[in-house]
Amino acid sequence: YIQAKVTQEANFYGKLNPVELIEKYGGPLYIYSERILRERCRDIKRLMRGPNFIVNYSAKANSNLSLLKIIKDEGCCVDAMSPGEIYVQLQAGFQPAQILYIGNNVSAEEMNYAINQGIQVSVDSLSQLELYGKINPHSTVVARFNTGVGAGHHKKVVTGGEKTKFGIETAFIPEVKDILQKYHLRLIGINQHIGSHFMDTHSYISGVQALLDVATQFPDLEFIDLGGGFGIPYHKYENEQRLDLAELSEKLEVILTKWVNTYGKQMNFKVEPGRYLVAECGILLGKVHTVKTNYMTKYIGTDLGFNVLMRPVLYNSYHDIEIYRSSNMQSRCQEAVTIVGNICESGDIIAEERKLPEVFEEDIIGVLDAGAYGYSMASNYNNRLRPAEVLITTQGDDVLIRQRETLEDLVRHYNSNAHY
Ligand code: LLP
Repeated sequence: YIQAKVTQEANFYGKLNPVELIEKYGGPLYIYSERILRERCRDIKRLMRGPNFIVNYSAKANSNLSLLKIIKDEGCCVDAMSPGEIYVQLQAGFQPAQILYIGNNVSAEEMNYAINQGIQVSVDSLSQLELYGKINPHSTVVARFNTGVGAGHHKKVVTGGEKTKFGIETAFIPEVKDILQKYHLRLIGINQHIGSHFMDTHSYISGVQALLDVATQFPDLEFIDLGGGFGIPYHKYENEQRLDLAELSEKLEVILTKWVNTYGKQMNFKVEPGRYLVAECGILLGKVHTVKTNYMTKYIGTDLGFNVLMRPVLYNSYHDIEIYRSSNMQSRCQEAVTIVGNICESGDIIAEERKLPEVFEEDIIGVLDAGAYGYSMASNYNNRLRPAEVLITTQGDDVLIRQRETLEDLVRHYNSNAHY
């Protein structure tokens, strides 16, 4: 088989190559490298030294049960965004104390679900703090603040700053204190998340600084959760530099040590990365069904509709593309092509005007760095089936970790007793 440009790291595909994997499991198919996943967990854990540092994986990026188990095995804890995520995380073996529920616009029922499981809740507004106080007075609570700092690869994923719905504005700290007092709550943690996918350390550091200023106002804190958002190099063919975690680590050490000395007691620090841990371990594989030219544009028609990967459509996100081939067809040239899926919308584009070696029908397309916000955002749009997921173990074996949906799944939840 040929690859479009650079080769993936050795052994990524294990004993089978992508063409054989598609033959064995069908497509589209998500494949994940256990080795890369474990490496990324270890990278992040080096951000700070010592037992007072905890990595909470933000499972919205990918909540596959097997991946969660590996992440747990690497010593990470986890953040949950919904009762569903909590449920899956408990199934993966996380203890309630290892889960932090960072919800948004949570119902009393959802809050109760977490509390009854013994899971710490982080509240996202004054009224949610009030609700928490009513449900669970004389207890501990965590609050998410919005310090006015935001960053991210697209405005839809900037989750801090003045124009976002998240967190409690810092001007409301007096009100927070009043509610804490009213319900005899102890604020044991604060958190923030400025947004997703930043490639320089500048905004993160200003966010941390601003959060530390908030922290100074609360004497009972046991931890400060600095947020996630660590970016990954999606443009590997252009040699995009990795986020400099060593530099971030040095900067954090300086400001956190200084702050702890002023605060006057030990503090636990957490981060909540999602993308950084899982993006690079995943490749989405699909097949080319049609090659056609419409009014000068060459379309590569695949089975990779936006039901399996929404990021390019939703945020105009870029993913490197590779081509794998089992036939002996030879690409005669490099050409700009538009790779599209099989969904009935013209926006169903994975890569626009992408320069690739000539692509043929039956070629396999690999969409790189698809491990984060790939499967987790997949849907049944057009009544398409969500794909299977395969883990390539560190020994190089391929293991089916989630089955492809079936046609029966599409009608499973309808009420067969309903008249119509
Ligand atoms: N913590 C909180 C509270 C979050 O809302 C998020 C992501 C994270 C942590 C993890 O952020 P990460 O480290 O993965 O950047 N679907 C978008 C990304 C949405 C992120 C939303 N919140 C994408 O595909 O780019």
